[in-house]
Amino acid sequence: MGRLEGKVAIVTGAGRGIGEATARLMALEGASVVVADLNRSEAERVAGELDGAVVAEVDVSDEESVIRMIDTAVEAFGGLDVLHNNATDSATNAVDTDIVTLDMAIFDRLVAVNLKGQFMGCKHAIPRMLERGGGSIVNTASVDGFVGRGVRAAYGASKAGVVLLTKSVASQYGSRGIRCNAVAPGLVRTPGAELHAPPGYVEAAASLYPMPRLCRPEDVAKAVVFLASDDAAYVNATTLMVDGGATVYMPSSRL
Ligand SMILES: NC(=O)c1ccc[n+]([C@@H]2O[C@H](COP(=O)([O-])OP(=O)(O)OC[C@H]3O[C@@H](n4cnc5c(N)ncnc54)[C@H](O)[C@@H]3O)[C@@H](O)[C@H]2O)c1
Repeated sequence: MGRLEGKVAIVTGAGRGIGEATARLMALEGASVVVADLNRSEAERVAGELDGAVVAEVDVSDEESVIRMIDTAVEAFGGLDVLHNNATDSATNAVDTDIVTLDMAIFDRLVAVNLKGQFMGCKHAIPRMLERGGGSIVNTASVDGFVGRGVRAAYGASKAGVVLLTKSVASQYGSRGIRCNAVAPGLVRTPGAELHAPPGYVEAAASLYPMPRLCRPEDVAKAVVFLASDDAAYVNATTLMVDGGATVYMPSSRL
């Protein structure tokens, strides 16, 4: 029996990358999955390969759109048990290079998708989860929410916000059966990361991480499914680093 048998799950940003890997693994573990993405054709591609999955075309930065996404789960499967808040606009994140020159419209878009989007996902998922006696929310944060690395100031601030949002939801709704946790990946070889990385960046990162290889979307998906499932029944308010140890590793230890 799968670890999410009988559960209804929404995964945002499920048209590719980490979200796609999570949607696939959740379906394998028995969940009925709503494949939610801004890009309908990619969401249809993923859902078409999964047993019993449906598509929700969503812009997570738009509240009406988020409400429709939650309604899709209820209409298709009768309720909601799991939400993986994961979508991001990787093209916008990529131009967040310097605080001084950053166009504030970029800041607004980035925060609207990464932080407000996850907030609204929680806001509208929680009442549906309460109707079923509880549920599990897994947010996607980032190592950039914990450490500065010379770029991505707005992105990092939005992800630090996701870490605190996770703690807030957990502390407000834990006693009513809703667990809320997050994953914080380091560099993951997704389309979003590979398309927007400067030349040579991925290769350079591979030599810096204290691991034999870089992270794959499936590595993150496994952590998300663990947190979503009853295997993590007493794990609440935590952010699980999925960074191969990068944030606590001093590269000079190899000298
Ligand atoms: N890849 C990495 O190195 C890395 C590292 C740390 C954290 N993360 C985080 O992991 C998550 C997934 O990243 P990824 O690398 O898989 O991204 P990706 O760019 O490969 O995929 C993101 C998906 O989100 C969708 N999307 C974009 N804007 C949207 C919106 N407004 N509403 C709904 N869907 C939208 C895109 O269409 C796409 O399918 C993000 O939260 C990201 O910040 C990624």
